[in-house]
Amino acid sequence: MSTSPRKTLIAANWKMYKTPDEAVAFVRSFIPLIGHHRHAEIVLCPSPTMLATVVDAARNNPIHVAAQNMHWLDQGAYTGETSPLQLKALGVTHVLIGHSERRQYFNETDESVNLKLKAALVHGLIPIVCVGEMLAEREANQTTEVLERQTSIALGGIDPAAAHPLVIAYEPVWAIGTGRTATPEIADDAHKVIRAEIARSLSPEVAAGTRILYGGSVKPDNTASLCCLEDIDGALVGGASLDPASFAQIVANSAT
Ligand code: 13P
Repeated sequence: MSTSPRKTLIAANWKMYKTPDEAVAFVRSFIPLIGHHRHAEIVLCPSPTMLATVVDAARNNPIHVAAQNMHWLDQGAYTGETSPLQLKALGVTHVLIGHSERRQYFNETDESVNLKLKAALVHGLIPIVCVGEMLAEREANQTTEVLERQTSIALGGIDPAAAHPLVIAYEPVWAIGTGRTATPEIADDAHKVIRAEIARSLSPEVAAGTRILYGGSVKPDNTASLCCLEDIDGALVGGASLDPASFAQIVANSAT
């Protein structure tokens, strides 16, 4: 574990998996497995249809619930969308913003990420803003440029005084669901680029306090090597978070 004062955050992105019954079964099995782990903020991100179910199942336990996406407006004629007010009313505390799957398949842009981040901060939702380069961008040596662009546009117009809840997740697209994890060195380098951009866009104080998570084929056996680096403050986990024992092991291993 890094020696920084930033609290480790370990989040489970369930993507479009699980039914409500399966989600409740997960939470019931998971709770006893994380009983004594207080070093990490644990966040589950189910599909919108299961947010209320998971909030209910996790009540009175050290488990937070995040939406995987939201609109930036409070309400309106936007069929199929969910507003920050609706999420808050359910007891949701965190929200993923700009996951690469949203950017790739649903046309999310750096500009919509910026609007969503502003809305999350206004409504007191903890934003987990996802950034990360595609394989072709890494191979063309554009990783730094891509991370700086995604981060600076996301943070445009944000008041540094209101930015403390900000969390960034570095998810190299080539490592998502591929079993190809970034080496700790690659991840640490990227996190340093992102932290420097936060310092430029907001302030060095905000940069020092912002948690930056790594995501992309995180598994129980590679958690410790990723989470022990100074600039890595936790993990955003896809596939390996679907099983309660595996996700609990990731939480446990993040304390080493
Ligand atoms: P995997 O852990 O399945 O690679 O997914 C990572 C991810 O996209 C988390 O948001």
